[in-house]
Amino acid sequence: MSQAHDPQHQVLFNPIAFGAHTLRNRIVMSPMTRQRSPGGIPGEQSVAYYRRRAEGGVGLIVTEGTCIGHPAAHGYNHVPDLFGDQALEGWKSVVAAVHKAGARIVPQLWHVGPIRRLGMAPAPQVPGYGPMEIREGGEVVVKAMTLADIDEVVEAYAQAARDAQAIGFDGVEIHGAHEYLIDSFIWQRSNQRDDEYGGSLANRTRLAARIVRAVREATGPGFPILFRFSQWKISDYDARIVEDAEQLKVFLQILVDAGVDIFDVSTRRCWEPAFAGSSDSLAAWTRRLSGKPVVMVGSVGLDKVYSIAQLRGNESADAGQGDLTPVLGQLQSGAVDLVALGRMLLADPQWPNKVLENRLAEIRRFDREAMLTEV
Ligand code: PHB
Repeated sequence: MSQAHDPQHQVLFNPIAFGAHTLRNRIVMSPMTRQRSPGGIPGEQSVAYYRRRAEGGVGLIVTEGTCIGHPAAHGYNHVPDLFGDQALEGWKSVVAAVHKAGARIVPQLWHVGPIRRLGMAPAPQVPGYGPMEIREGGEVVVKAMTLADIDEVVEAYAQAARDAQAIGFDGVEIHGAHEYLIDSFIWQRSNQRDDEYGGSLANRTRLAARIVRAVREATGPGFPILFRFSQWKISDYDARIVEDAEQLKVFLQILVDAGVDIFDVSTRRCWEPAFAGSSDSLAAWTRRLSGKPVVMVGSVGLDKVYSIAQLRGNESADAGQGDLTPVLGQLQSGAVDLVALGRMLLADPQWPNKVLENRLAEIRRFDREAMLTEV
């Protein structure tokens, strides 16, 4: 076990069991879309990018969203596939490089759902797929999924997980957050279906549960399944899928019964309380109500918090909480198990090693410049 130079950082460096393996510490690399896999194939640049973060000391890497084999899974150019011989070969090289550097790695299985619109890359003639039809200018830009479409998508997740396991990934993360396919079914505002996939929270969670079950069946017991969810949406940072702890409990129990091992709880600021009347974060609530380990994520270590619009639009950022107090406290108390960093690891791949060695002043800060010059 690595000994932190400053004892207060030690909680970040205690190992933790992960399926048949042990993670060397509690630091996770959060999934981030990088759009650098032309034709959906992760190449040498991706190998070097992930190797650098593994060498920097992270325990677990969750890859950028990588698309399952369904015609409408993609929404952006140069996002990697998790299907087809070439893409799987590319990922195999990434996995080997990460393992060699002592970290574990899982792919984030992604289908963008109704965030995709007719006309978007990489196949403009394919509409988005979602719970409801969306029309723009008289044209169907998002198709309401039929029961047959749902079966097909569930099978595509299972196949991606099977392939991930075959090429050496250590588990999978299912992207159930941020208004993409799975979350668009969960969120009431985007799902007004009147069949068994719409209506009650349990019905809206049915697609998620089916996918988790199919992935479990495809990969067998002991292969870690992480599930990422969020209250916030790409189109609405203040949106909610659950209003209180009671609803959260119902939601989580369905997913635990389906086979989720670890919840990756995506918040924009991990120190914020989830519900009125308690200071507990959404990750802490999730751990307590589900009984499963959780990953906490949301502006850890950042002194500037940009929204996606601020980052893209050259606007100034909001103030963050640059120090690690909220993170160390939640790890120390056992409220959360793992902590994911995104932008911080773009700015400085050596973040874990520098914290371990208490070289905090040497950590490169995240700002727009750091993002543009990231390697
Ligand atoms: C993004 O590209 O901005 C993005 C992608 C996936 C997410 C969130 C944001 O889950």
